Amino acid sequence: MELLNGKLLSERIRAELAEKIKAFPKPVGLGVLLVGNDPASAVYVRNKIAACKSCGIVSFERRLAETATQAEVEKAVLELVNDPAVHGVLVQLPLPAHIHAEAVLRLIPAEKDVDGFTPANIGKLALNREDALIACTPAGILALLRFYRIPLRGKKVVMIGTSNIVGKPMTLLLMNEGATVTACQSKTDPLYLKALCRTADIIIVATGKPKLLTADMVNPGAVVVDVGIHRTEDGKLCGDVDFANVAPLTSFITPVPGGVGPMTIAMLLCNTYLAATMAEARA
Ligand code: GUN
Repeated sequence: MELLNGKLLSERIRAELAEKIKAFPKPVGLGVLLVGNDPASAVYVRNKIAACKSCGIVSFERRLAETATQAEVEKAVLELVNDPAVHGVLVQLPLPAHIHAEAVLRLIPAEKDVDGFTPANIGKLALNREDALIACTPAGILALLRFYRIPLRGKKVVMIGTSNIVGKPMTLLLMNEGATVTACQSKTDPLYLKALCRTADIIIVATGKPKLLTADMVNPGAVVVDVGIHRTEDGKLCGDVDFANVAPLTSFITPVPGGVGPMTIAMLLCNTYLAATMAEARA
């Protein structure tokens, strides 16, 4: 078993990106909006802003209280979107329950959509177009699989989870790579899920359910990618995979933490640079 070391690869990617950003004719800017007090979101945003700094991206941070109105949130997004120094805009999710998230995200134009959430970018991904800004977690997983030279063409991949942020764009990316992908979700018959997983070359788990993938579901030699991150009762972190029992069966597996998480942030930085280069090409 070998670990898919996202921390290591993300550091390499960030170092390469820092060189490109240094050579870019103007400062590259990322706008980040955080609304409310979700502690996990606060940590993610802090990490994203620190990552920007580490590779020379200028961050424009806006914070609004949990009680912010729809109009206030929309105004903050529009201010970021309309700032020519801001090449990418990220609205940290989840937004407070009283905010209509889709109406907020709709204000981000595709060319500044560094999360790859807009219909235009999902459509470009589906069409395998090079100018797509691709959702950061799926893009990070693909980069990690490529770095470890894990073949995808013709391989049987089970994607567990069909969220707009991870599962759906990951399925599209894998299709574009020539993989045979099966998209499973919470409604999938558990016995069928197990049977599928047991014949899979690669299993990617993004369900938000701690230790959903257990050893009896994994074919010896499979590659396992864990997108989950949860705090256990004893204060440790765990993923959607029962790592202790699954890892010995695998050929490659992502650790939690240090696997997918750092890759997501690295891809956010790459997308921001890509958005800046595309803006420069249009100018
Ligand atoms: N919340 C959890 N993951 C993400 C992400 O990738 N982007 C944003 N904007 N919010 C998130």
